[in-house]
Amino acid sequence: MDVREEIRLRYAEAARAAETRGGCGSGSCCEDGSPEDFGEALYSAEERGELPDKAVLASLGCGNPTAIAELNEGETVLDLGSGGGIDVILSAKRVGRTGVAYGLDMTDEMLALARKNAAEAGVANVHFLKGVIEQIPLPADSVDVVISNCVINLSVDKAAVLAEMARVLKPGGRIGLSDVVAGDHLSNEQRAERGSFVGCIAGALSRSEYVDGLGAAGFEDVSVEFTHEVADGMHGAIVKATKTSTPEAKRLPLVRPVAQAGCC
Ligand SMILES: C[S@@+](CC[C@H](N)C(=O)[O-])C[C@H]1O[C@@H](n2cnc3c(N)ncnc32)[C@H](O)[C@@H]1O
Repeated sequence: MDVREEIRLRYAEAARAAETRGGCGSGSCCEDGSPEDFGEALYSAEERGELPDKAVLASLGCGNPTAIAELNEGETVLDLGSGGGIDVILSAKRVGRTGVAYGLDMTDEMLALARKNAAEAGVANVHFLKGVIEQIPLPADSVDVVISNCVINLSVDKAAVLAEMARVLKPGGRIGLSDVVAGDHLSNEQRAERGSFVGCIAGALSRSEYVDGLGAAGFEDVSVEFTHEVADGMHGAIVKATKTSTPEAKRLPLVRPVAQAGCC
């Protein structure tokens, strides 16, 4: 079975667990993480109060991207790997009725759960799309903000994801990501010793791979800030950057090394 299919099956099971047993929100679906490192604990009580219980319980992230993305009324937001919909629902509330929040996920069970949670939350300005983050099903220059919560580490082609984020963002658009990021001293083998690929650890980029990859994809003002350690030398991190007005000039020659470093 290929890695992407393994990931899809794991998160389909996580969605079913959130529906039937009340959840993976305590971190049990991201192996090697303790409950305070992953899931609902990373949201404030006020934010949790805005959400249906099942959206909170299905939370599998490693941060809180809506808190870092500084969303404004009327903006268009895209959440890569939207899972049970927690960050899409919060985004929809932040951008208001004149804005739009898109969630993109490849797992049918997660999409069904997210749509149910959004309906229960009473937000109408949301759209959940089926697809992969390496090939985003939205037009170029159509999004103000890309967010994502603990998903880019799961991609088997990180360079494609970074290039796709740059493509769909409007010039000057921004990213606010939460992800697992490795310290620069850890080799790919050392990352794999600390946890599995499907459990959000082995596939993590290092800080400098993230910075270089985003620069190569056409972003500027890149920052990668570690927030909490989730395994030895591996961190929950906040990743921010802005799309330059002229990304094409930089993109092509520099993308390939990130795909090699990030994949398996
Ligand atoms: C760790 S969960 C995080 C879910 C959500 N962001 C959250 O914070 O609860 C990973 C999610 O990303 C989705 N996913 C993983 N790889 C993907 C890919 N390449 N394309 C689209 N979705 C993907 C999975 O189906 C799953 O819903």
